[in-house]
Amino acid sequence: MNPARKEGDPSSLPVASAERSSAGSVFVTRRIPEAGLALLREAGAAVEVGEVEDERGIARERLLGGVRRADVLLALLTETIDREVLEANPHLLGVANLAVGFDHVDVAAATELGIPVTNTPGVLTETTADLTWAMLLAVARRIPEAHAYTVEGRYRIWSPNLMLGSDVGPGAHGRRKVLGVVGFGRIGRAVARRAVGFDMEVVAYDPHGREAVEASGIARWAELDELLGRSDFVTLHPALTPETRHLIGAPELRRMKETAYLVNVSRGPVVHEEALVRALREGWIAGAALDVFENEPELAPGLVELPNVVLAPHVGSGSRETRDLMATMAATNALHHLRRERAPDAVNPEVYDSAAYRRRTSR
Ligand code: GLV
Repeated sequence: MNPARKEGDPSSLPVASAERSSAGSVFVTRRIPEAGLALLREAGAAVEVGEVEDERGIARERLLGGVRRADVLLALLTETIDREVLEANPHLLGVANLAVGFDHVDVAAATELGIPVTNTPGVLTETTADLTWAMLLAVARRIPEAHAYTVEGRYRIWSPNLMLGSDVGPGAHGRRKVLGVVGFGRIGRAVARRAVGFDMEVVAYDPHGREAVEASGIARWAELDELLGRSDFVTLHPALTPETRHLIGAPELRRMKETAYLVNVSRGPVVHEEALVRALREGWIAGAALDVFENEPELAPGLVELPNVVLAPHVGSGSRETRDLMATMAATNALHHLRRERAPDAVNPEVYDSAAYRRRTSR
């Protein structure tokens, strides 16, 4: 719970299913930060939250029931918003996704059905880049191991051989480390910018072409093979698409240096996790830091037993400030949908010119 929120504060209580309102209704699949719910309520929208306890996620039937009752769906990345969900309500005015990634939404079906889909771009860029660096430094300098060693009372005497990691900056030996950024969108660029402070050489590859890399002035373009072979740290930031699914599998891991580390704060399926476990176990690479997993929240067999991994539960954008902003942004998008306005964050803006959208919004 947000520490700023006091126990017993009514705003922390579950939000009940609300009466219909003339401003329309929003079904929020699971509890989101209060800032977003407050914005919806202040605008007069009736708000129903599907799942207040978020251990297992909302059951499919509850999701479908909520969509049928509402004018707008506000969903999280934990729900699969497929054709069945989108077709559950012929009058659904839009889907507001509380995440920048929208690979869990069938956007093609939404567009065909005349449903605008929005995401939350921009607000989480810097926070996610921070987490990427936290993970990179943690795996390079073995922070989780060091922490466990210390709190378990095993620290008896300083030793020059204790828990040695890898330099990230050039240290006194002066060899600049190479950061390979795969996916040079907003987050990839923010990660690359931070590498300046570590005096690293930055190479970047983007599945959508080299222009953005070359124009940035902060990274040199490299094809994926070259990047993998040269980098001391490879960090992944592409959107998950059919082209980037398993972008990093056994052949790519084989191409990396034995001393190199892999960091993934994008989407789990970008990495073939089983191949990664093998690579880590057999020493093809030095270590990996993962905030996302191929079958989240399941972990590939053997992953947790490995000594050279740092794992986190998908908290890339997880600062209080940013999650409030994401909730506010998703709620703002939901209000645009309710009011039948063009939402600036629509990922399928072409939908607004379609006959299907006009039909859907004409009543
Ligand atoms: C988080 O993973 C997001 O896509 O916002």
